[in-house]
Amino acid sequence: MIGGDNLIHQVNDTTTTTTTVADQATSTIQTKATTTDNKLIDLTGGAILNDKLQYFQLQHLTQLETDGYIIIDDFVGQTLHDSCRKETLQLYDSGDKLRDANMSRGDTKWNDKSIRSDKIMWLNKDTCLDLKEGRIPHISTLLARLEQLRSELNAVIPSLHLDETRTQSQLAIYPSGGRYIKHTDSFVGGNSRRITCIYYLNPGWKPQDGGELRLYMPQLQQQQQQHDNLTTTVDIEPLGDRLLLFLSEYIPHEVRPSLADSRIAITTWFY
Ligand code: OGA
Ligand code: NI
Repeated sequence: MIGGDNLIHQVNDTTTTTTTVADQATSTIQTKATTTDNKLIDLTGGAILNDKLQYFQLQHLTQLETDGYIIIDDFVGQTLHDSCRKETLQLYDSGDKLRDANMSRGDTKWNDKSIRSDKIMWLNKDTCLDLKEGRIPHISTLLARLEQLRSELNAVIPSLHLDETRTQSQLAIYPSGGRYIKHTDSFVGGNSRRITCIYYLNPGWKPQDGGELRLYMPQLQQQQQQHDNLTTTVDIEPLGDRLLLFLSEYIPHEVRPSLADSRIAITTWFY
């Protein structure tokens, strides 16, 4: 299946300060966020059952409320990561499985490499033959882990009400020079994507490879603009076996120009 339904939402750029997030130190478990005013969304609806957490730490959950994003490094381990990467490259080398990514708004679809230059393949269980016919078993395992992670999010934060029957996943490869300009994956009242999960498959990534994901932090922007008209961004390095989750509706982002031969990611949206 060709194309996507990534909504383009361009926001005027102002002067930017950028923080780089490298490997995160192992978090210690903390109790809930203390300041309610600073939260992007309120996730306090349910009891947090901290003994049940497999994928998250409590600190992650409070971070999702206040910062709108979470990084989980070493998500599935190197063996599964490497196998997923191998399957991805086989799909890429097969010639016709990955297509130029499209943008769309309503029924209109278009392609513009100066906006978005990755090649993509949809990984939906019902329509992707390679998944259905067992040709990419490791990617299938990865997607199953992401479904477990979603169940865990629902269990610990019932107020999120993530739909456990609906999943959309996409494999994307940016060739050297590729980028994706600033956009938002979803709008409040739009296509109802709630959480964007990006799993990176770039072992040995180094700063000169570029391709960082730049997040535009909405709250910091508000605070900063009041003071000196600065926009604050966070750059996430697309390191192998790193999983990034963020609130699809609140965080505009862009893929900085990637100079590596190929920059690979699997993105899953929760609704
Ligand atoms: C997207 C996107 C970011 C990335 O596919 O909508 O923003 O880091 N991807 O690959
Ligand atoms: Ni996006």
